[in-house]
Amino acid sequence: MQHADQVGYIERMLEMARANRRDDAPGIAHTPVDTYFSRERYDREVATLFRRYPLVVAFSAQLRQPGDFVTNNDSGQPILVVRGRDGVLRAFLNVCRHRSATVETQPCGAGKRAFVCPYHGWSYDLTGKLIGITDGAWFGDLDRSRHGLRPLAIAERCGMVWVVPTALEEGQSTELDIDSFLGAVKPDLESWDMTGWDVHSVTPIRPHMNWKLVIDTFLELYHFRYLHGASVAPLFLDNITTYERRDRHARFAVAKKTLLEIDKEPSSTWRLLDHAVMLYNLFPHTVLAYTADHCGVFTSFPISPDESLINVSILVDPAVRAMRPESYWDTNRDLILAALAEDFAVGATIQTNFRSGANKVQTFGKFEKALDWYHSEIEEALR
Ligand code: FES
Ligand SMILES: [Fe+2]
Repeated sequence: MQHADQVGYIERMLEMARANRRDDAPGIAHTPVDTYFSRERYDREVATLFRRYPLVVAFSAQLRQPGDFVTNNDSGQPILVVRGRDGVLRAFLNVCRHRSATVETQPCGAGKRAFVCPYHGWSYDLTGKLIGITDGAWFGDLDRSRHGLRPLAIAERCGMVWVVPTALEEGQSTELDIDSFLGAVKPDLESWDMTGWDVHSVTPIRPHMNWKLVIDTFLELYHFRYLHGASVAPLFLDNITTYERRDRHARFAVAKKTLLEIDKEPSSTWRLLDHAVMLYNLFPHTVLAYTADHCGVFTSFPISPDESLINVSILVDPAVRAMRPESYWDTNRDLILAALAEDFAVGATIQTNFRSGANKVQTFGKFEKALDWYHSEIEEALR
């Protein structure tokens, strides 16, 4: 993020804190509660957002060397991502072309030379090509060139790996135009580049919440003082947050209490992440939270209308990681997980109460405008 941009955020937040003003939308907004539990709506979201959009399914740190691979079933599609001997990252449906068994059953691994199906031993190379049919001379005629693993579109940027989990047809390009998709947030992600970063941990959680309700919990700071009073709220100013819609995504800075001391220093030395957490809502299912020394990556996947899987990943620059004992990073993660446990306990009551008939709509206050933006983008995508 450009320094001038950082100073702009800081000045806006300082002005808001001093005037006790919020970054308001013109008015309140609503979204219907049945969008969080209707089966029909859920099926459309899965078919569109979780089949045709780029999803974060892995990190560069997990796939550095040729032969490194990761499998991922979180979207409901069986995905295999592997780095080839040519250094190229590829993704496939992890489904054997003989009789549909799962080919690679491990969550991740290294030094792979070929994938061998556990059912009848068909084998595929790292480019997905079918290279071996056991008892091939007797199996019968088969065009091997048309029975490779089905490829998926994939892109790797700034330490993250996106895949669109729908099989490509023959001749379709596996190239995913992630730069256009990221649009106006791309320069920011490049400036907070995580390409060389480690994955400290990935913690899966399964809240009793619709997958969008999980994302909602990240999009306003209004609830901090009440819900997180005993965990993370003491670090932050009360609801001092500046929001910007960036194409279909959003970015916002969340002011820490140390911000109030910042003008003792000249603005040429100001660094936004020293005094704020910078959040990005990456459409459709990822939230990034960049802090002074790490990034939290939160990906929400649908399991049913009322259940989701959220992966909480902590990424750290290895040079920064080495400056602290491992217990420091574990404590950091545990603080995040404690705050999320508070969010998800309330979230489970919300998910249940949606069906009570008490509310036909969720009401978003003026400073909850990022929720309105998000739900509007989803509506637009499903149209
Ligand atoms: S299903 Fe894979 S070899 Fe038969
Ligand atoms: Fe929260």
